[in-house]
Amino acid sequence: MNLILLGPPGAGKGTQSARLERERGMAQLSTGDMLRAAVKAGTPIGLKAKAVMAAGELVSDDIVSGLIGERLDELGNDTGVIFDGYPRTEAQAHALDGLLKERGRTLDHVIELMVDEDALVDRITGRFTCANCGAGYHDRYKLPAKEGVCDVCGSTEFKRRPDDNEETVRTRMAEYRAKTAPILPLYDARGIVSRVDGMASIESVAAAIDAVLSDA
Ligand code: AP5
Repeated sequence: MNLILLGPPGAGKGTQSARLERERGMAQLSTGDMLRAAVKAGTPIGLKAKAVMAAGELVSDDIVSGLIGERLDELGNDTGVIFDGYPRTEAQAHALDGLLKERGRTLDHVIELMVDEDALVDRITGRFTCANCGAGYHDRYKLPAKEGVCDVCGSTEFKRRPDDNEETVRTRMAEYRAKTAPILPLYDARGIVSRVDGMASIESVAAAIDAVLSDA
């Protein structure tokens, strides 16, 4: 199964993709994570992407589609994929069609997480992750069970993303409205879009996504 999770910054794409990866053995392909790894490693792609990401704008279509193609090749064709944060433009949507077709894969579902943008600023500015394993948390909605200790790996080191400040979040949302939301009609025309209330609790959103996937 190949699935796109679509929604604005903070909609819960990463949270739900990571869970689907854990629970269903699918692979989470997050272009945001791939780009952050490239920035951290100081690769040529990372050097190009760093300032663009810090400003909340979109990295070039060729770069992100290239990263997705490489990752799909590494995976082989037996593992289902969750596309998290990709595609984000019409050009990326067309590139994804080509990448999947070349590899004999089909796109089975697009799940749009429906959210109230005003609430997302709060979600994003409260987000932090384990510096060791990347597990995601939130200052109010998802704290580690034991204060200051990662539930998953036991690390006591946490970090916050440099683009998780209010000004950059507003730019990221404007980019979503202008460039990403307009690709939904492409998938609506194929009858593969399901809409899930992303404002419910993390557990309720998970249950709604599972219901969509089990109906398939
Ligand atoms: P990316 O890393 O993709 O960031 P994003 O789309 O802005 O999405 P986020 O990771 O902020 O949000 P999310 O929906 O994953 O929410 P999360 O689950 O973490 O992209 C970053 C940058 O990279 C872009 O700005 C761009 O520059 C570049 N880039 C990436 N992909 C690109 C592409 N394809 N093309 C061009 N450029 C690209 O949840 C957020 C918080 O809320 C967490 O703390 C979580 O615990 C909490 N939470 C989640 N769900 C709920 C819930 N239901 N209730 C309460 N809290 C919740």
